[in-house]
Amino acid sequence: MSVLSGKNVLLGVTGGIAAYKTTYLVRLLIKAGATVKVVMTPASREFVTPLTLSTLSKNPVLSSFTNEDDENDTWNNHVDLGLWADYMIIAPATANTMSKMVAGNIDNFLLAVYCSAKCPVYFAPAMDLDMFKHPSTQHNFEQLASYGNKMIPAGTGELASGLSGEGRMAEPEEIVDFIEKDIASQLPLKGKICLITAGPTYEPIDPVRFIGNRSSGKMGAALALEMATNGAQVILVMGPSHVSSDHHLIDRVNVETAQEMYDTVHEHIHKADYAIFSAAVADYKPINAADQKIKKKSDTLTIELTKNPDILASVGAMDKRPFLVGFALETENELEYAFAKAKKKNTDLLVLNSTRDKGAGFGVDTNKITLIDRDRNTTEFEVKPKSEVAKDIINEIINRTI
Ligand code: C5P
Repeated sequence: MSVLSGKNVLLGVTGGIAAYKTTYLVRLLIKAGATVKVVMTPASREFVTPLTLSTLSKNPVLSSFTNEDDENDTWNNHVDLGLWADYMIIAPATANTMSKMVAGNIDNFLLAVYCSAKCPVYFAPAMDLDMFKHPSTQHNFEQLASYGNKMIPAGTGELASGLSGEGRMAEPEEIVDFIEKDIASQLPLKGKICLITAGPTYEPIDPVRFIGNRSSGKMGAALALEMATNGAQVILVMGPSHVSSDHHLIDRVNVETAQEMYDTVHEHIHKADYAIFSAAVADYKPINAADQKIKKKSDTLTIELTKNPDILASVGAMDKRPFLVGFALETENELEYAFAKAKKKNTDLLVLNSTRDKGAGFGVDTNKITLIDRDRNTTEFEVKPKSEVAKDIINEIINRTI
């Protein structure tokens, strides 16, 4: 999944021949999962039509402060648009527009949006080689860099003028690649390793039956995705679950029993910076699973159970251990039990859910949590989709460790 997935990208198009390439750029951004809005300078409309870009971006294209076609003549709010954007890309960036960006000379809508945007701004220069080399242009590159704007280097090659040299706008693929790499390099958990357990465990009774539970694995998969979105390499140790967890930073190891989960966790725990144990591990397992299917004979059947290893507690007891997050699902005296559990299992954070809260727990797409730290500080959250709950938990982890 691209780091641009789910992000709002504002593309500013200025008046150079390379503007025709922005049609491909919009398509690539959409393919990466971004929501794209396009703003254009009046001059750029000569090179590529707003109709093409609005069709590809699936959003209206704006290039003036008012809508001439609108009988109410409503104002296009450059401030809202600037704040809407997670990233702004100015491509192609002409020498003219760059000089106005440097000077704060807001004589068109695109420049007003640029000056209102608080997000990271990337610009891809495109011009003829002498214009590119001109001291004023080189000075403007430096000035824009000093504002924190990031230049996507221009290529060298044949230019529209027929001359050959530096000044060709980077290809759309190179622009997206540059931005994705730049964003990825700044993610807060880049270079960190996180081990996550998720889902139920199945403890065999015989070859066809097992003791299991209703955990879906959704909360753990959402946590894995959120960790990966923040740049961490994730080892997801998943009990039997159909929930998908596709992300290039997630390595999934499927297990069935608590013992397999324990063994897999201890194989990897030494390299982990973070461990989040959200699995609903069976506390007990049959002492001896039958080799063959148990036949229906007597009226009653007794299966003797023995305790499974407590994976969370075993990691909590390690001398050198990662930042440790556990889960507690309680049905009564929630806080009291959770405080005791956090202490016993030695967690840095404990995520408490109660079966008494509507929208919390197994099988549903929402959850309601309270976070408890080592000093018994509690933070309560509203009922939210599990993806949002995952964000709350990971944000808390980032705030406490980075
Ligand atoms: O003690 P309890 O089962 O309520 O604790 C829940 C927490 O402990 C969860 O984080 C769960 O993943 C973890 N756990 C574990 N191994 C077990 C039982 C629970 O890691 N055998």
